[in-house]
Amino acid sequence: MANVVLVGAQWGDEGKGRIIDVLAEQADFVVRSQGGANAGHTVVVDDEEFILHLVPTGVLHPGTQCIVGNGVVIDPKVLIDEIDTLTAKGVHIDGNLYISESAHIVMPYHKLLDGLREKLKGKGAIGTTLRGISPAYMDKVGYVGIRALDLLHEATFRTKLEMNLVEKNLLLTKLYDHEPLEPELILAEYGGYAERMRPYVTNTEIILNRAIAEGKEMLFEGAQGTLLDVDHGTYPFVTASSTTSGGACTGSGVGPTKIGMVMGVAKAYTTRVGAGPFPTEFTPEEDFVDRKQDREFGATTGRTRRCGWFDAVIVNHSVRVNGLDAIALTKLDVMDNCKRIKICVAYDDGGRRVTDFPADGAVLARIKPVYEEMDGWCEPTKHVRSYEELPANARAYIERLQELVATPVEIVSVGEKRAETIFMSPAFNGS
Ligand code: GDP
Ligand code: IMO
Ligand code: MG
Repeated sequence: MANVVLVGAQWGDEGKGRIIDVLAEQADFVVRSQGGANAGHTVVVDDEEFILHLVPTGVLHPGTQCIVGNGVVIDPKVLIDEIDTLTAKGVHIDGNLYISESAHIVMPYHKLLDGLREKLKGKGAIGTTLRGISPAYMDKVGYVGIRALDLLHEATFRTKLEMNLVEKNLLLTKLYDHEPLEPELILAEYGGYAERMRPYVTNTEIILNRAIAEGKEMLFEGAQGTLLDVDHGTYPFVTASSTTSGGACTGSGVGPTKIGMVMGVAKAYTTRVGAGPFPTEFTPEEDFVDRKQDREFGATTGRTRRCGWFDAVIVNHSVRVNGLDAIALTKLDVMDNCKRIKICVAYDDGGRRVTDFPADGAVLARIKPVYEEMDGWCEPTKHVRSYEELPANARAYIERLQELVATPVEIVSVGEKRAETIFMSPAFNGS
């Protein structure tokens, strides 16, 4: 397996964690390079469920080293809770986890401002995860962020915190009519986090590049999805990071010449959490997804996911902006009882056929999906382990999707467990 960048090809929650878990078996390193605790990657191992927010999913494989890269924004409390929960479940973390000293830290004012800004936006709210993600990235690009290495030096941390609080407290008190934040309380809380994080914080770009030079294999675990990318997504209904494949390089310090392939994870249908355009969203009569049984509620926030038909226009956009070489198609089994299936092959904009994803939200709001229809397969697929064993209509569906997005489907997932995976070629199953 070449160094693989794995990204979400839709609006997040495509099952990236579940696919990483299968591929990590063969990887020496699994790297997170963007996003933060807004991510929720669920993996089921032997009936035990793990939900990862900041620690790379590869940690569930004892022989795999995990890196939280410079591009990630770290909420130390979430990180430490996650390390403790994983350790209590018997997962070996120490010696397997490295955190970039250049990664930015999510501060209490980031989380507070996330919520206050959402409230102020009223009907225009994004529906963020309230994890402080956008305010933390705003400070990063505004040159006032606090990095992991700053957190470890008490005097530097105090200076940077006090400087930040001058502006943040003005915002809180004058704009949002909120109490100011006390530096001493934050210093005490974050001082404790610093000690817990210290053993893991290091220069990860050196570790990664040395390992690559030795021929070690990397797997980059994308968070969120292409349509949430700050540049390529449904702006402003996006997240604050580069969720597309280029983000794996900038967010880890590994150059693009070292990347062997880019894989996109797409659900066999489409979901989205939070506000924003969703052209193929189901009408109530079309909706076949059982949110609870099919696990379509947010792993991070518990919110119910909006669901809709597979949209080839957005996945084609993902193929383009990520340079996708292959697709992992997940949750095919969720469609087992769907009698008639729709696939969106284009949009109709007042009689004009649109196949290139429109960047303009006003266009997205008015277009209508153009559907092709197929018969469903109406039989269970969870037990299926090879492509040939799949019902003929399920194969026809996959083949049509491949054709529409001009990219091979290399992995098909028919359940949440490791074994419920169909490999189309031996390249990814370790054989
Ligand atoms: P991620 O954020 O992309 O890692 O995806 P999430 O973990 O947030 O959401 C995917 C959900 O679907 C999780 O609860 C997975 O356990 C589950 N899942 C993943 N692949 C499959 C599949 O092929 N079939 C079924 N039934 N569930 C799946
Ligand atoms: P994973 O990695 C799905 C969405 C939020 C909101 C928007 C901005 O599990 O696929 P933010 O808190 O990032 O400022 O929210 O992005 N969002 C996700 N949706 N999966 C995720 O992560 C998401 N992370 C953020 O719902 O619409
Ligand atoms: Mg998720």
